[in-house]
Amino acid sequence: MSILKAVNVSKKFGKFTALNHVNLEVNQGEVYGFIGPNGAGKSTTIRIFLGILKASGGEVKIFGKDAWKDAVEIHKHLSYVPGDVNLWPNLTGGEVIDLFMRLRGTSADKNRRDELIQRFNLDPTKKCRTYSKGNRQKVALIAAFSTDADLFILDEPTSGLDPLMEKVFQECVLEAKRNGKSVLLSSHILSEVERLCDRVGIIRRGEIIETGTLDELRHLTRTNLVIQTKQPLLGLEAIQGVHEIVGNDREFSFQVDGKDLDEVIRYISGFGLDKLESTPPTLEDLFMRHYDET
Ligand SMILES: Nc1ncnc2c1ncn2[C@@H]1O[C@H](COP(=O)(O)OP(=O)(O)OP(=O)(O)O)[C@@H](O)[C@H]1O
Ligand SMILES: [Mg+2]
Repeated sequence: MSILKAVNVSKKFGKFTALNHVNLEVNQGEVYGFIGPNGAGKSTTIRIFLGILKASGGEVKIFGKDAWKDAVEIHKHLSYVPGDVNLWPNLTGGEVIDLFMRLRGTSADKNRRDELIQRFNLDPTKKCRTYSKGNRQKVALIAAFSTDADLFILDEPTSGLDPLMEKVFQECVLEAKRNGKSVLLSSHILSEVERLCDRVGIIRRGEIIETGTLDELRHLTRTNLVIQTKQPLLGLEAIQGVHEIVGNDREFSFQVDGKDLDEVIRYISGFGLDKLESTPPTLEDLFMRHYDET
């Protein structure tokens, strides 16, 4: 079931086209990773989803309602955490969390809030003006995950968190997913996206250039192979889909296009294999390839 669906969303700031026919869908119970270089259009897309910005064209439906016209309705079931959290300086962290929860209007789960304050190791009695960036981030995350929102929209939510807290955050996302919630997560931390996300979309210069599960995207990229053959391996460079060959005689390392892997393995196994190590491409490999193609 589709929770969020964006069809051909465009956004112009004056003459500048920030988004060009963006299509994106988040299904129920899914964590969708939204990645792309700085200035690609992630936050702009998210602001349109939140009803903060009006799209220049296209349509966004969240819970089947219009993101712009029905924003008030939608926000009753949506939690949003931005990357740079600003808080009321004179309230304590605990007061802000309670305020956020009251603003949401739904029944607040006090036990869940207390549990999260512990897990995120936040001192809720301090005034917000004294909090570090990471601690302000925690306040917003605790408030968000204390609610029973159906959709979490998170725009680089962990930019200030240390590795221990990053882990707590990841657990929270997986818990939400287990409870059937949906998450849109924009992030530059590729290991986080790789660990959490069912599907990812890569945006560049306002256009979605790839979308799919990590496995699907891996087909578009190369596998790294390290091999040792029994007989000297000849003619490797002439095989389709083989790149970046290093080595000679019986020992080689190289990369193979996903679609040609089958054929390459068949070829090299004709020389007898003593060793075959393969490493799948990481999300970083994938991302870098797109990033590089300027
Ligand atoms: N209010 C605005 N007026 C004019 N241009 C804008 C406005 N908001 C965003 N832009 C431009 O739109 C483009 C996309 O910006 P956006 O903030 O969506 O990128 P992003 O993918 O979130 O980047 P980052 O990873 O740095 O957060 C950028 O070129 C930005 O300068
Ligand atoms: Mg952004």
